[in-house]
Amino acid sequence: MSDTSSLRPPLCEPAESAPNGKAAVEIRQLSRSFGSRKAVDNLSLHLPAGQIFGLLGPNGAGKSTTIKMLTTLLPPTSGSATVAGFDIARQPGCVRRSIGYVPQVISAEGSLTGYENLLVFAKLYGIRRSLRKKRIQQILEFMGLAEVQNVLVQKYSGGMIRRLEIALALLHQPPILFLDEPTVGLDPTARQLVWEHIEQLRRDVGTTILMTTHQMGEADALCDVVAIMHEGQIRAVGSPAELKSSVGDGATLDDVFAFYTAEQTDQRGGFTDVIRARRTARRLG
Ligand SMILES: Nc1ncnc2c1ncn2[C@@H]1O[C@H](COP(=O)(O)OP(=O)(O)OP(=O)(O)O)[C@@H](O)[C@H]1O
Ligand SMILES: [Mg+2]
Repeated sequence: MSDTSSLRPPLCEPAESAPNGKAAVEIRQLSRSFGSRKAVDNLSLHLPAGQIFGLLGPNGAGKSTTIKMLTTLLPPTSGSATVAGFDIARQPGCVRRSIGYVPQVISAEGSLTGYENLLVFAKLYGIRRSLRKKRIQQILEFMGLAEVQNVLVQKYSGGMIRRLEIALALLHQPPILFLDEPTVGLDPTARQLVWEHIEQLRRDVGTTILMTTHQMGEADALCDVVAIMHEGQIRAVGSPAELKSSVGDGATLDDVFAFYTAEQTDQRGGFTDVIRARRTARRLG
């Protein structure tokens, strides 16, 4: 008899029994270098389960690199992390089974219909044949795509493609979802629709979501907790309200972003002055 042990799914025993209560993602001193450049520099973060966590930062801050390490697509240079209790280096198969991932670049196949894209993913995920059709129809309904399921994806709008990509990432019902700039390039209506689906996922399904965005309004509206990342390091973590009050009375999340990604402390002083002046102007009418 041939040895099929390598084909058997790995036993998914969590590497640790969530020491901090319900941690969906635990990152410890994670680093990744490309040559001499430290894209992610000694990152430590704790993501509680059931929350929407926003990773914000300028271009090149290291957001996508962080997500690629957590989704096991890129090995870290040093440090460790667990996702759904599984170690990203030692249990990559278990991590992959526990997550959905929507990358920054378009990933749906344009020459197939929405339904066909989902069918390919259902087979890849190993969803049983008897369950596939039902699961695909459920997710099409959930993401508001049932009516266009037989249309080629190349004819979809940007918003429809993004919703299909989220549907693809959700087919196997993962407890954790990684969304790298889910609404980039979408008009306000399409963006609003994606927001509603993300909120519904957290509220009705309890999915933990880690997302990146360059839209501060989006982070403010959706995220329970945000982290500001700059040059591979986390500069601040907290709820949008906490971060705003840490910068100054009347500060917006744009102010928070500018404050924590300022190169020099004297630039930060400038921001504080601007916020103070704005507040005074408001008071004077
Ligand atoms: N495969 C790679 N090879 C070399 N350098 C890389 C690679 N991937 C990322 N980098 C570098 O690592 C740094 C972080 O990139 P990353 O894509 O993580 O940033 P980001 O925060 O996602 O930026 P953006 O907001 O533009 O998407 C950048 O300097 C980038 O050029
Ligand atoms: Mg990126």
